[in-house]
Amino acid sequence: MEVPSVANTARIIDYWLGGSHHFPVDEEAAKVFEQVYPKSPEVFQELRAYIGKVSRYMESQGINQFVVFGAGLPTCGNVHEAAPESKVVYTDIDRANIEIGRALLANNPQADYTFCDVTNLMTLDQSVIANVLGNVQRLGIVLIGVCAFIKDETLTQVLEQLYDWSPAGSILALDFDGKAAAEYPQLLQLMDSLGAHLYLRNPAMIKPLLGRWQLSSAGILPVSMWEAEVSSQVMEINEQAFMYGCVVYK
Ligand SMILES: C[S@@+](CC[C@H](N)C(=O)[O-])C[C@H]1O[C@@H](n2cnc3c(N)ncnc32)[C@H](O)[C@@H]1O
Repeated sequence: MEVPSVANTARIIDYWLGGSHHFPVDEEAAKVFEQVYPKSPEVFQELRAYIGKVSRYMESQGINQFVVFGAGLPTCGNVHEAAPESKVVYTDIDRANIEIGRALLANNPQADYTFCDVTNLMTLDQSVIANVLGNVQRLGIVLIGVCAFIKDETLTQVLEQLYDWSPAGSILALDFDGKAAAEYPQLLQLMDSLGAHLYLRNPAMIKPLLGRWQLSSAGILPVSMWEAEVSSQVMEINEQAFMYGCVVYK
């Protein structure tokens, strides 16, 4: 495959997770991020652990079909590894990630990888969904590591479209970048230089974006604290988290 000349956030995360599916340009970018914010690896290890927690939770709720948006690389504890009884369609807009993902899943009949820009669900090839998932019932939808790149107006539409598109009983897991990153202006500038402007939100800003999706009783929590059964009171004392997560129901 053609070696990418521009770093991708998912492959930078792969470097921090100790994975082996990133390129020199990603490793260089990761090291620059670490100079600006040394805790970067830890933050993204927590985010990957959150993907594991929500995937296992959804599987425990009887979900065995997943669609993952902005999936990055399907390895290092991503959804099909965390929920091994399930069928999983991974999607992303980055061509290199899709190519690597397809190669990684080539011998896995339970999972595949295809293009989708989550801001336009028409770009999702429904035949891949049908081939991998079969008759779609309640879906587990994973939108993690993506909302921070999408402005409020568009994100509201994305969540509305996902609601209309998914069968009743589906569960969606999300995350949002918190205001803590505002204390590191160089970090935000670096993201801009990668063409990935970050929109920072605290829980009060996140709630109105959820539209018709029903927030779980755990509420909106720092991803490191998210548990299906945790009280939403916890969010009151954690306004300055780097990343917040929540699970919502249709
Ligand atoms: C920060 S990474 C997160 C990867 C993975 N979900 C994780 O949490 O480790 C963001 C990913 O979203 C992808 N992405 C960015 N904008 C997107 C969009 N509009 N639709 C789908 N994927 C998008 C990027 O290519 C990248 O792979």
